[in-house]
Amino acid sequence: MKKSSISEFFPLHLYGQCRDMGRTQNIAKKHKLHIIEDCAQDHGSLWDNKIAGSMSTISALSFYQTKTLGAYGDAGIMVTQSNNYAKKAKC
Ligand SMILES: Cc1ncc(COP(=O)(O)O)c(C=O)c1O
Repeated sequence: MKKSSISEFFPLHLYGQCRDMGRTQNIAKKHKLHIIEDCAQDHGSLWDNKIAGSMSTISALSFYQTKTLGAYGDAGIMVTQSNNYAKKAKC
């Protein structure tokens, strides 16, 4: 079988609805993929009592003015539990 060059998987939560992260994590596990969660339109929703953005290798949240939690101007944040990725992302 040909080895896949895909190593990340980008699930997207929309309209404040957290997607089924159990199913998402099963797909990621099966294909050995990192999950990079897009929480731009989903701040604070829960799946299985876990908050969106806390169930992936990396999560991204947008604070653009039209989003659930808007900043003055353009803003966002990356969330990770990996010290390695946090160090790499540090400005
Ligand atoms: C689902 C989703 N992901 C990512 C983005 C990008 O966010 P930003 O504009 O803060 O880069 C948006 C913005 O519309 C979005 O709706």
